[in-house]
Amino acid sequence: MSAESRKISIQRLNKSFQVNGASKQVLHNINFDVDSGEFICLLGSSGCGKSTILNMISGLDKDYTGEIRIDGALRSESRAHLSYLFQEPRLLPWLTVEKNIHFALRAAKVPAAEWDDRTAHYLGMVNLSGSEKHYIHQLSGGMQHRVAIARAFSVNPDILLMDEPFGALDELTARDIRANLLELWQKDRKTVLFVTHNTLEATYLADRIFMMSANPGKIDVVAPVELSRPREYESDELFFTHKQMIKQFVGISGKPA
Ligand SMILES: Nc1ncnc2c1ncn2[C@@H]1O[C@H](COP(=O)(O)OP(=O)(O)O)[C@@H](O)[C@H]1O
Ligand SMILES: [Mg+2]
Repeated sequence: MSAESRKISIQRLNKSFQVNGASKQVLHNINFDVDSGEFICLLGSSGCGKSTILNMISGLDKDYTGEIRIDGALRSESRAHLSYLFQEPRLLPWLTVEKNIHFALRAAKVPAAEWDDRTAHYLGMVNLSGSEKHYIHQLSGGMQHRVAIARAFSVNPDILLMDEPFGALDELTARDIRANLLELWQKDRKTVLFVTHNTLEATYLADRIFMMSANPGKIDVVAPVELSRPREYESDELFFTHKQMIKQFVGISGKPA
């Protein structure tokens, strides 16, 4: 990986929280590099520190030791623009679908003349053409996630952080939306850091999977996913690769995913 193409670089990252007056280390010596345009899944069981890592990369949490660099610049000095997606789509319920996206475009200082084209393009990419005038409460949970993804890509972020975004969806809906996400990612080639505890989801999505263990949280295995794209859930290749991933993950975490 060349230094120029390194989008995220993390070195000797340690994180502790104060709990009842005592310091509790939740992350221990995290080191990794992410290439520009890579799709990385952070895989780990609940409580191992996945969200904490995203919070520090996003800039929301500045209390850590070690280094986080984006495009070579220290996080505190970086002007990188990041989109953050959560398990709840976090849309504005009193606005229509298109107004939700316009709201984000305005916040990202995108010229108003581009709003309609961008909105139409990204809603089309997530199969929501025709839903522009609907209010959020008129949409299913799956559709709300599609809007959130369209909104995240529409602002042209440098990096997309996704924290178990499909964890509350039924598996078939999640599969549809993951496929949409990959189509968008392959077109726009954003750098994605995607948190999950689901090994199949990680195997389907990722270029590389960072497998974590807990107490304190650390990355034990970096597993490349050697599968061509587009990937098929029903394919033997995905089945066998997923099986290997589960084996490695159980090996480090000591329990099934
Ligand atoms: N604000 C906080 N104060 C104290 N402990 C916290 C705080 N946030 C998270 N933790 C602890 O840090 C650990 C990692 O949390 P988190 O990053 O949310 O895990 P994950 O996202 O992998 O489920 C957990 O043990 C959690 O209880
Ligand atoms: Mg979490």
